[in-house]
Amino acid sequence: MADQERTALKQSLQATELPKIKKDTAVITSERYKTPRSSPLVFHFEPYSFTSPALRLQDSTIKHEVVSGKDVYIIDDFFIESEAEELRNFSTNATFSKDIFANNESKVKGELPDRAMDSKEKWVFFANPPQAIKELYKLMSWLSNEMEADISTLPWEMYDQDICAPAFATNRVVFKSKESSELGKHKDYDTDEGLSFGIPVLYAKEPQQLHPSSFPNGSEGKPWLISLMAYATSPAFSTKHGLGTIFCDDDGKTKMCADSKNMRFVIFEGDIIHSIESAKLPANPDAWRVSYVFKLIVNPKRKDQSMKKRMQEILQSFQK
Ligand SMILES: [Fe+2]
Repeated sequence: MADQERTALKQSLQATELPKIKKDTAVITSERYKTPRSSPLVFHFEPYSFTSPALRLQDSTIKHEVVSGKDVYIIDDFFIESEAEELRNFSTNATFSKDIFANNESKVKGELPDRAMDSKEKWVFFANPPQAIKELYKLMSWLSNEMEADISTLPWEMYDQDICAPAFATNRVVFKSKESSELGKHKDYDTDEGLSFGIPVLYAKEPQQLHPSSFPNGSEGKPWLISLMAYATSPAFSTKHGLGTIFCDDDGKTKMCADSKNMRFVIFEGDIIHSIESAKLPANPDAWRVSYVFKLIVNPKRKDQSMKKRMQEILQSFQK
């Protein structure tokens, strides 16, 4: 098939293959998060053998990196031109109405805050996103089918007294000082320390059985928690500006950086310490990058399979 035909096919599949998402409710197991503002809703990407994701992976560039034994996949060229344009326009016009700081120190110093969607803006986006994001939803359905897994989001928003752990987050960044980049280092979750919600054992005999709250992420028969992050950048932005995502070893030392590139997406184990790379150029309001981040659970349907290994096999089969 010629390139033009492939693009036309991808375009026609936008309308004929629609994302399959099912709403569900998780059990909050940690007392700390049983607060009125917590929302235990989770969304499953129903297993389905869509044509579009595999077609796109065949045309993608997939780079695999390993940081302290954990996987990072950097994927380019998955989307078509019209999707890139739509997401860029969307990101230009969307209201990111919340200011966010790496921590209070960055705030006091008067650093330019990052911007994020508030709860309502996130709902609207998640329920009816630009086509590029729909293609990622379809990829998750396709992967869950290939991996013999259930792929879902984490609980929508888990609040303790003061912090919120969301399943979906956005971040519009123009500038980041070295200090804020340092202070922003975090894990999205830590399955060794324990999760605050229950994940059902899909191969259990009794239907209500949950996985223990702590487990080695992605080991045989255990869930694998990953983060999926897609970048959109303004036309004035280039990788010279920095503001990629740095990944660190267990001591917090930077091991690699996934540059912010328009329409790139990164699948990574969110229990790698990571942060936003510091800016390499002075702040320019026209040069921004937005990241759209989904925190996901890949829950195996079979006891004898490691989801981390399955992902490696599947993505490797598309690597050139
Ligand atoms: Fe994160």
